[in-house]
Amino acid sequence: MLDVRNLRLYYGMGGTVVKAVDGVEFRVADGETIGLVGESGSGKTSTGLALMRLLPNNVVHFSGHAFIDGVDLLAMDYRKFVAEFRWKVVSMVFQGAMNSFNPVLKVGEQVAEPLLVKTDADRKEAVNLVKKMFRQVGLPEEVAERYPHELSGGMKQRAMIAMALILNPRLIILDEPTSALDVSIQTQVINLLKKLKKELQLSMIFITHDLALVSDIADSIAVMYAGEVVEFGVSDDLLTNPAHPYTQKLLKSIPRLKGSKTLEYIPGQPPNLSNPPTGCRFHPRCPRVFDKCSLETPPSIAVGNGVVKCWLYGGEKEG
Ligand SMILES: Nc1ncnc2c1ncn2[C@@H]1O[C@H](COP(=O)(O)OP(=O)(O)O)[C@@H](O)[C@H]1O
Ligand code: SF4
Ligand SMILES: [Mg+2]
Repeated sequence: MLDVRNLRLYYGMGGTVVKAVDGVEFRVADGETIGLVGESGSGKTSTGLALMRLLPNNVVHFSGHAFIDGVDLLAMDYRKFVAEFRWKVVSMVFQGAMNSFNPVLKVGEQVAEPLLVKTDADRKEAVNLVKKMFRQVGLPEEVAERYPHELSGGMKQRAMIAMALILNPRLIILDEPTSALDVSIQTQVINLLKKLKKELQLSMIFITHDLALVSDIADSIAVMYAGEVVEFGVSDDLLTNPAHPYTQKLLKSIPRLKGSKTLEYIPGQPPNLSNPPTGCRFHPRCPRVFDKCSLETPPSIAVGNGVVKCWLYGGEKEG
């Protein structure tokens, strides 16, 4: 359904260029959830914003493709994208957004806003649709009449999800939707997303720094490191048999997943994206680094049903 190719988004920062998204590629099938996983600063949020064409004003380079059924969201006229695609086909729950409700407006009015702005619905129709959507996300209808401070964190996040779904998009991007919530509430939100996925045949991009969390919901996983997707594959394969040394390290640093007896941490720091390491960006931290790694950038190499960017898997045409 969604096919992201060679996505790049660079920011200008006081004379330097931050390559936040640098050649990202992944696919999301109809009704599928993919987890976009990586450490803080790896470019996950920037990838989501790029797909929504919501670019901060210091962007100095933006390129690539994002095809939905063959239509390139990034190449089409911007006004057409805003009128016909943003929120209607692709929507996003922004990182930390549940705390950005306007405190003086009722929750229902705020959730109804996309309907009022983007459709012919009048206020009454909009409120009715909001209430219907609230039921779908497990909120009592009367929450529409409340003010944001009267809602718990979990309820606010449900309301945010309702707002992102109000125009019936086919794809929803959720940026760290559970990070600010208690663990028990996290589970409830994950269960809600699983339910919605089934009921609405939704495709989802679930962004998180938490590989253990995403293993519960994602059909496929894209692992981001320093602005690149270094491994992409079916969740079960990737979690049981990770190919990229970074994914392997990431799995060993998670206490909750099966099979990790001794906890490891990944030595070193994620790189500075205004001056990323040459060759493979993970090479300064990689336990399996060899000569070629710092000299040449590994291409995306098909391994099993997935793709990995690492020289250990070949990358040159065999003679
Ligand atoms: N508007 C911006 N201007 C400059 N640098 C930015 C901006 N937004 C994000 N960055 C930088 O881009 C990189 C990726 O950020 P981000 O996409 O937020 O990553 P993540 O969501 O994985 O934490 C980081 O180095 C971050 O500091
Ligand atoms: S290309 Fe080299 S440095 Fe990079 S992950 Fe593979 S082995 Fe490690
Ligand atoms: Mg982020």
